Amino acid sequence: MARIYVTRHLPGDAIDRLRAAHDVEVWPEDGPPPHDEFVARAREADALLTMLTERMDAAFLAEAAPLRGVANYAVGTDNVDLAAATAAGVPVGNTPDVLTDATADLAFALLLAAARRIRDADEAVRTGNWPTWSPGAFLGHDVAGATLGIVGYGRIGRAVARRGEGFGMEIVHNSRSGGTSLDELLRRCDYVSLHAPLTPDTRGLIGERELGLMKSTAILVNTARGELVQTAALERALRDGTIAGAGLDVTDPEPLPPDHPLLQAPNLTVLPHIGSATRTTREKMADMAAGNLMAALAGERMPYCANPEVYER
Ligand code: DGY
Repeated sequence: MARIYVTRHLPGDAIDRLRAAHDVEVWPEDGPPPHDEFVARAREADALLTMLTERMDAAFLAEAAPLRGVANYAVGTDNVDLAAATAAGVPVGNTPDVLTDATADLAFALLLAAARRIRDADEAVRTGNWPTWSPGAFLGHDVAGATLGIVGYGRIGRAVARRGEGFGMEIVHNSRSGGTSLDELLRRCDYVSLHAPLTPDTRGLIGERELGLMKSTAILVNTARGELVQTAALERALRDGTIAGAGLDVTDPEPLPPDHPLLQAPNLTVLPHIGSATRTTREKMADMAAGNLMAALAGERMPYCANPEVYER
């Protein structure tokens, strides 16, 4: 029986299944454990089931050693130093595929919300400013016939492209392996949706220069990682009309403090990183994470491993 430390309660019965075979401790609060607490618990554990809020760098992995596996409850693994995990012989699991549609749906919801000024219009109703029907009230932007640029053309990027096609949009994409250059995509597109992983190459990908290339009528959507966008540059671009609007499910910093200047920018919808937040998706993610840990603790390959080279050692 191995000791597993889980950093949050999970929906569904995945934890019960882990408990049937192992000694499982779950951090009882809604937010993440303080880092010192996490380090102390990890030191006593054989394996971890973690969220994207837990930073696991080389120093952490050295302190927590020896770990037999880390199952990250996310498809993204930018919170883990994968090279250090591989060097330490720790397989790191993730949860690809199961959250693709939920995240793509949310990206499209943000795109539509920004295009049709849903947030502004809803607020007007709630604050007693309902404009009697008027030809000029809350004019937004067409989606059908517009060009949608997808930056990062993996599973989620392609799923957003399919939604765009369904809405009659022309699709342009940019990725590490090709497509349209980023500059050309930014110049050409009416909507730009980010789906690249966060890496040293993509950190700060969209800054003042890139926003300046976009059309003044364009809308930026980010459901990937907040650090892809330079927050201060985005705030300025929204304020001075360099672009027309943005829909963000992720921000830098995250969470965004309620008095953060970005929240005062016009034509902005911000959500608290809920791309994968449907009950079914979150239960599937829990099943995958638990399956990854069960395999690692049985001495088998994790079925969904973000650093498969660990098995070549
Ligand atoms: C992920 O999985 O990487 C998302 O950001 C959270 O579900």
